[in-house]
Amino acid sequence: MSIKKAIFPVAGLGTRFLPVTKAQPKEMLPIVDKPAIQYVVEEAVQSGIDDFLFITGKDKRPLEDYFDHSGELEHHLKNQGKTELLELVQSIACMCQIYYVRQKKPLGLGHAVWCAKQHIGDEYFAVLLGDDIVDSGKPCLKQMIEVYDEAKKPVVAIRRVPREDVSSYGVIAGKPLGGGLWEISDLVEKPRPEDAPSDLAVIGRYILPPQIFPVLENLEPGRAGEIQLTDALRVLAQDEPIIGYEFQGIRYDVGTPKGLLIATVEMALSRDDLGEDFERYLAQLVRKRNLL
Ligand code: UTP
Repeated sequence: MSIKKAIFPVAGLGTRFLPVTKAQPKEMLPIVDKPAIQYVVEEAVQSGIDDFLFITGKDKRPLEDYFDHSGELEHHLKNQGKTELLELVQSIACMCQIYYVRQKKPLGLGHAVWCAKQHIGDEYFAVLLGDDIVDSGKPCLKQMIEVYDEAKKPVVAIRRVPREDVSSYGVIAGKPLGGGLWEISDLVEKPRPEDAPSDLAVIGRYILPPQIFPVLENLEPGRAGEIQLTDALRVLAQDEPIIGYEFQGIRYDVGTPKGLLIATVEMALSRDDLGEDFERYLAQLVRKRNLL
């Protein structure tokens, strides 16, 4: 059986975006005019996922509202004859059926994944983090599902990062299998550059087996006092190979203000309705500030 269920852990506090995240989920921050989480949900839809579970937390209600119908707004748009906008807002509510589970305390990504245990049952499933958006011809998760379909093993998305940046990621040790695939023998969460086993960082896409749940259940809090998914993967890797997959596509780290800005600028530039105008503005700005 292929991968049909996906979970989206969205219960983090988003402290890197304070103060805006004091009263607004970071997943709802827009890239141009679409919230970051929608890009990730669309990737899952286009990858053939048909069961969506959000792991939510306190103050995440706007996410539920966003993916639901908005009676008043739809009524208003209909009365005004704004058919295109009406179709746009309706299409978001109709995109997929989402289930919700609350993570009662933000005890870490590993704990958030554990909260999906009942819903997932006894099958492999995907995890997608809203912090990572991948712009690619074939959706990143679809590429990973193809690797899984072939290997029937856990798969994590990996990408080379500059050595000085490894301390922001989980980093793998492993041997190359060819074609962008690696057999992972170990993982380290946010190592110092001098301690990192490689420059291959884990990005927020995973295909995991149900055996991850008992591992998470028995895990002690790790780095930052949180239950870390990387620590659970490390235990899992001792029993069976985990595959690291260097996916095709441009990855944006929208979990930081700088990364969100980069994604916003690049995606605005590639938009038919905005791109030309915005590029002219950027060119002017570069000249005015003597940036070249
Ligand atoms: P991060 O480590 O980026 O944490 O979580 P965060 O709280 O979202 O953001 P910062 O670091 O404070 O700015 C990675 C992913 O794991 C989820 C987050 O929502 C994000 O998608 N997460 C994290 C949870 O769902 N629960 C947690 O307890 C922690």
